[in-house]
Amino acid sequence: MVTAYDAQMARLVDAAGIDMVLVGDSLGMVFQGGKDTLSVTVDDMVYHGRCVAAGLTRAHLTVDMPFMSYQVSVKQAMKTAGKLMQKGQAQSVKLEGGVRSAPAIRALVEAGIPVVGHVGLTPQSVHAFGGFRVQGREKENADRILEDAHAVAAAGAFAIVLEMVPHALAAQITTELAIPTIGIGAGPACDGQVLVCTDMLGMDQRFSPKFLQRYANLEQTITDAMRSYVADVKTGAFPTAAHSY
Ligand code: KIV
Repeated sequence: MVTAYDAQMARLVDAAGIDMVLVGDSLGMVFQGGKDTLSVTVDDMVYHGRCVAAGLTRAHLTVDMPFMSYQVSVKQAMKTAGKLMQKGQAQSVKLEGGVRSAPAIRALVEAGIPVVGHVGLTPQSVHAFGGFRVQGREKENADRILEDAHAVAAAGAFAIVLEMVPHALAAQITTELAIPTIGIGAGPACDGQVLVCTDMLGMDQRFSPKFLQRYANLEQTITDAMRSYVADVKTGAFPTAAHSY
């Protein structure tokens, strides 16, 4: 799984054989330039869901339910998920939280909406955690995350994201749950992995958490290309007769 926020990126990741594409509310940070995901709205997710759907021909499309679009009540969660499916072209939705989100997950699944859970470091709770940091290092916290993961699976989610938890805890959850685990900063034992597309493509070299593997250095590639373009236009090397009508 990787994230995507627009049709061009969706087309490329789809053609490369990615199984699942996530329109993550990480778009609040990587696309909108915010410090966290909290200001992302349902309308933002609908817009980017439609953009990404336009680029996909085969991969499954999951769209995040943003902050405070499902926490108020099960009814609110149903309305938000319905909008993401009908207007945002989601094929499933992802929401954060374990025990506390289980009633919403259960209701969505009963309504025919496939759900992906998300436990561990849940970015919508960044201020409760005091920052983006590994969760579940201490036994009490690890037990809570394990309980959350079981609650998500019991409520009917078809997969679960484990974010920034120790690899031994991720391995235990993966062994105990019947549904696939998808890790980010959760080690190699997970059934699948997810990365933010712009992170794994190296578009911002300032962001380098331990869990990240970069598969390209697009920051350098794009900067070099832009510099070459500026130079060519200034020197008159571009455009030439070959580019003219
Ligand atoms: O919003 C997001 O991109 C995510 C992934 C990091 C799992 O939730």
